Amino acid sequence: MNARPEKVAHFLFCFYYLTLRRILTASSILIGYPFLMSDSIPTMKILAFAATNHKKSINKQLVEYAAKLITHAEVEILDLNDYELPLYGQDKEEEIGHPQLAKDFLTKIQQSDAIIISFAEHNGSYSVAYKNIFDWCSRIEPKVFQNKKMVLISTSPGARGGATVLASAVQSAPHFNGVVKANLSIPNFFDNFDQDKQCLKHSELNEQFKDAISHIDHLT
Ligand SMILES: Cc1cc2nc3c(=O)[nH]c(=O)nc-3n(C[C@H](O)[C@H](O)[C@H](O)COP(=O)(O)O)c2cc1C
Repeated sequence: MNARPEKVAHFLFCFYYLTLRRILTASSILIGYPFLMSDSIPTMKILAFAATNHKKSINKQLVEYAAKLITHAEVEILDLNDYELPLYGQDKEEEIGHPQLAKDFLTKIQQSDAIIISFAEHNGSYSVAYKNIFDWCSRIEPKVFQNKKMVLISTSPGARGGATVLASAVQSAPHFNGVVKANLSIPNFFDNFDQDKQCLKHSELNEQFKDAISHIDHLT
């Protein structure tokens, strides 16, 4: 009895697929590349930082709270004090070239799947510390955010919670290939954030915050 061609094709497809899968799995065990195994689940990496060099930064406290809410990813929190550079200027760039720390910062972005930034507001704009590292980075890679998903937040002791700098960051992010998934400012930080428990006090604001963060707590 002759086998039907489609059944033969199906059999051959299954045979080759299973054989290839076994070879890949075996080689991944042998040479130590577990990512080749089809059943392994990649871990999403989130980079988070407060856009300030304030050692007692309230935005850093907010970022740390955001990191605690992330359940499906690894979170690395950077401190801009570790990326202190000379004040950017074109003459300085001609003099010293592109600093290694700016390259390192871009590599951190490149190695992440998503980014959380909490912006400090100084006179309605970015802190000097953030603008400085950003400007240096933009001279090396103009698309600083490298197509990463982003959640942008801000807080301040005032009633607007850094809403002005946040709006500016949200508006400009696409020009630097940032894909903003959500944004939220937290007003009156010292009224709304529990300093002892390190979390937001009021349930409605807390739900809004969790919802914003949830936009990058998965791989899709
Ligand atoms: C130079 C300077 C300018 C500031 N301008 C603003 C402002 O425009 N809006 C605001 O809400 N807070 C302003 N503040 C208060 C900051 O929100 C506050 O210092 C806050 O702690 C900054 O966030 P950080 O602690 O995360 O750095 C300013 C503070 C400084 C030092």
